[in-house]
Amino acid sequence: MRIALGSDHAGYDLKTLLKSTLVAWGHDVLDLGTTSATEPVDYPDFGAAVGRAVVSGDAELGVACCGTGIGVAMAANKVPGVRAAVVHDVTTGHLAREHNHANVLCMGGRLLGSVEAIESLEAWLNAKPQARHEVRIEKLRKLDIELANEEK
Ligand code: RB5
Repeated sequence: MRIALGSDHAGYDLKTLLKSTLVAWGHDVLDLGTTSATEPVDYPDFGAAVGRAVVSGDAELGVACCGTGIGVAMAANKVPGVRAAVVHDVTTGHLAREHNHANVLCMGGRLLGSVEAIESLEAWLNAKPQARHEVRIEKLRKLDIELANEEK
């Protein structure tokens, strides 16, 4: 599977770890930056870039990291069609995909240890979006359309 990755400086080390993990698992990764843990950058740029890559079809899923995962999730969720979830353990990773059909996984490099992060990623990737939740996902899609029309 092709997976887009992005982070700010605070999520860079975690992104690097997750990138090598995904490659080792046989995935094709699209790394959208940043490229350093020491050069401060702005998380909205990278959360949005990951969201856009998923919605455009450049990637099937996205992973975004910042200090907490919160900022990149806020940015990614501004992109219509994105369902970004902040995840911090196996349970939230699994449920974000199974119930919420999360297409972008967000995690905090300053909060999660390596093992927790990799296990959360694995739980999210291995979970199957459940069809019984599709009615709610369709409501999220409708909100994207309604809100875009209200802005016009
Ligand atoms: C950067 O210092 C930090 O604020 C950012 O990575 C993130 O945690 C925001 O949500």
